[in-house]
Amino acid sequence: MKVYLPLTDIQVFLLAFAIFLTLLHYVKPLLISKFPPGPWGWPLIGCLPSFVNNEPHRILADLGEKYGPVFSLRLGTELVVVINGYKAIREALVKKGEFCNSRPSMPIMQRTTKQLGVVNAYYGASWKEQRKFTLSVLRSFGMGKSTVEGRVTEEAYHLCMEIRKLQGEAFDPTHFMTNAIANIISSIIFGKRFEYDDPTFRRLLYLCNKNFELAGSVAISNFFPILQYLPIGPMKEIVDNFEIYRNFLNDKINEHRLNFDPNDISDVISAYLSEMDARKTTEGSSFHDDNLFAVVSDLFAAGTETASTTLRWALLYFAVFEDVQTKVQKELDDVVGRHRKPCFSDRHNLPYTEAVTLEIHRMASIVPICLPHSTIADTEIMGHKIPKDTVLIVNLWSALNDPKTWKDPDRFDPTRFLNAEGKVKRYKELIPFSIGRRVCLGEQLAKTEIFLLLTRLLHEFRISPAADCQSPTMKPVAGITLSPQPYRICAKKR
Ligand code: HEM
Repeated sequence: MKVYLPLTDIQVFLLAFAIFLTLLHYVKPLLISKFPPGPWGWPLIGCLPSFVNNEPHRILADLGEKYGPVFSLRLGTELVVVINGYKAIREALVKKGEFCNSRPSMPIMQRTTKQLGVVNAYYGASWKEQRKFTLSVLRSFGMGKSTVEGRVTEEAYHLCMEIRKLQGEAFDPTHFMTNAIANIISSIIFGKRFEYDDPTFRRLLYLCNKNFELAGSVAISNFFPILQYLPIGPMKEIVDNFEIYRNFLNDKINEHRLNFDPNDISDVISAYLSEMDARKTTEGSSFHDDNLFAVVSDLFAAGTETASTTLRWALLYFAVFEDVQTKVQKELDDVVGRHRKPCFSDRHNLPYTEAVTLEIHRMASIVPICLPHSTIADTEIMGHKIPKDTVLIVNLWSALNDPKTWKDPDRFDPTRFLNAEGKVKRYKELIPFSIGRRVCLGEQLAKTEIFLLLTRLLHEFRISPAADCQSPTMKPVAGITLSPQPYRICAKKR
């Protein structure tokens, strides 16, 4: 009996070609000498199933135990290289920083900021110019000078007032922390803060937080680009949320354009418009409308979710570890006293409080995996050959939780940051803001915000778990950042 295949010759050829490409993808690592080893994974999907409903940073750290600090992994159609542990991260991002600090093309970023601005921009002249400019304006309007302390102190006053209004009633601190941090960055970017009950701003902050959470689940579309075109699902939700955010930011930019006064440059947008004006005759200038939008969007998003999530972790730790809270409050009372508020220069005399904030940064590890890096040329990391255009997954969590550096890394223990004389002990391995050329641009601002807001809150309030939330879980919700699951606390005036 004759069997007919339901395929034409051309279909058979295409099928054979697809199988050939898949096999080639599979044997590629074998063709490059000294390519990092790694698990094989499933055809087409690679190791993606292992990451579903799991904490990816923990899985990557476990695989690192088996394959070494630099290993390869198939994620969908992409063969990526994972970097685990401080030594390998330093080699990739600092020693080989020149080659390892670009970003790969990411569907979600293409559809939002077009991979312009700073955070998601490819390594090159535009990124360098935008980063340098943004850092310098942040310095003049907020970071590194006493003006930032003024801005944070003003917001601390409003935050404490809002919490005072609750009169010890139980509350979820998410909106309070997000609004406070968003107001500090808003005052630097737009020259404006927003009331805590402003419904438009409240919704905007909710959508921003939501997008950070959803971004974890759409990361898969970086490895299956076709998924980005699904008419429903998280990618669609992110893009819809981003449109509301885009309109909000564009309104602010347009207001600045209308009222632009070259003699009154007092926030990031006006400084940017002035720079655009100064460079309007420079051919190929990177100072244009799309980059202006991307820089503003980057600063607002990166500057709000990260620092406010760290504060939420901090309040949760204080509620659960009441003895730690008692020690911080005692130190504040001894050093600052009850008749004035803590200020930034007090930190030199508050070693225990400083140690607590360092341990919160370590434990919360809020950006567990850097935004993806990519190589711009062939390079070598820890003796492994990494070709040009390889996606690098840098696991910061692995450095912050390495048992070789941190004894009992899962234990919350601020005293690990104190030496025998009770002075603060620094560790080079504490890298929550990453390292190298792409190191967080807001590190200084974030540290100032976190120190001042936490000390002001603990100086005034005693934090305890709400009656309906006596044993809150410490298991994080994993998106781009690790955030605490919703919890409720009471803040009683001391
Ligand atoms: C606790 C708070 C924060 C943490 C833990 C944090 C952490 C990070 C990390 C891990 C990166 C990625 C670095 C890399 O790819 O190697 C990053 C990038 C960045 N962060 Fe932060 N961040 C925080 C707060 C802020 C704030 C307040 C701002 C804004 C003022 C900010 C602005 C940025 C920008 C613009 C980048 C992109 C840098 C580049 O690609 O050149 N961050 N941050």
